[in-house]
Amino acid sequence: MTTTARPVPIRTDRLLLRAFELADGPARLAWQSRPDVARWLMRDPLDAVSVLVGIRRGQEGRLAEADDRLLLAVARLDDGVLVGEVSARLDDVGSGQVEVGWVFDPVHSGRGYATEAAAALVEELFSRHGAHRVFARLLEGNDASERLCRRLGMRREAHLRENELWRGEWTSELVYARLASDPVLGGAAGATTAAAVPGATTGAGAGESVADGPA
Ligand SMILES: CC(C)(COP(=O)(O)OP(=O)(O)OC[C@H]1O[C@@H](n2cnc3c(N)ncnc32)[C@H](O)[C@@H]1OP(=O)(O)O)[C@@H](O)C(=O)NCCC(=O)NCCS
Repeated sequence: MTTTARPVPIRTDRLLLRAFELADGPARLAWQSRPDVARWLMRDPLDAVSVLVGIRRGQEGRLAEADDRLLLAVARLDDGVLVGEVSARLDDVGSGQVEVGWVFDPVHSGRGYATEAAAALVEELFSRHGAHRVFARLLEGNDASERLCRRLGMRREAHLRENELWRGEWTSELVYARLASDPVLGGAAGATTAAAVPGATTGAGAGESVADGPA
């Protein structure tokens, strides 16, 4: 796996994936403070301080050693409005295993932004960082996230039944993954994920889930 110290911005048809700035705090707080978002991340909603701490850590993000994390803000190209964030965590350097995550503002849901951004990130991890396997962990019942995984061409690899006790209730986890060698759904073998998703082209110039903690 080729590791780089800092991510470069990634441009798609509609979006720019870039490092967070401290000024993005209020925008990030808008989605990170929502209980209906935090429940899927198995934690409390973040407050303003936690949001800024996450941004600060994200600014130093890199993928070089095991458990290094990247956090990227996702902004609309046309007006600069932040719509969410994507993240990556280097799980294992030698075997190129990378976990990805995504958290988007429900205000902007249902327009394919999360798919477009996540596809570009996955493509970047394969093509630029040399990842071998990109995976996502999600709570069973997180249907929107599961559909997103499928749109990314990930395969369901595991259903870990009642593998964690959280706030007195058993939760189950799903693991979705995609290999660098996996063919694109409905496309030619060897093509990239991003190329399979409308609008998700990685520009040449170019989570809380895995950035601030476990998904
Ligand atoms: C998971 C999450 C990012 C998905 O958000 P989303 O809005 O469903 O995803 P997208 O932005 O990609 O939009 C996809 C939806 O828009 C529709 N859509 C509209 N235009 C589209 C386009 N141009 N391209 C793709 N999809 C489009 C799709 O059909 C899809 O709808 P469907 O899922 O009902 O079929 C969001 O629910 C979220 O942030 N959840 C909380 C955090 C979380 O669970 N994180 C993951 C922890 S592992």
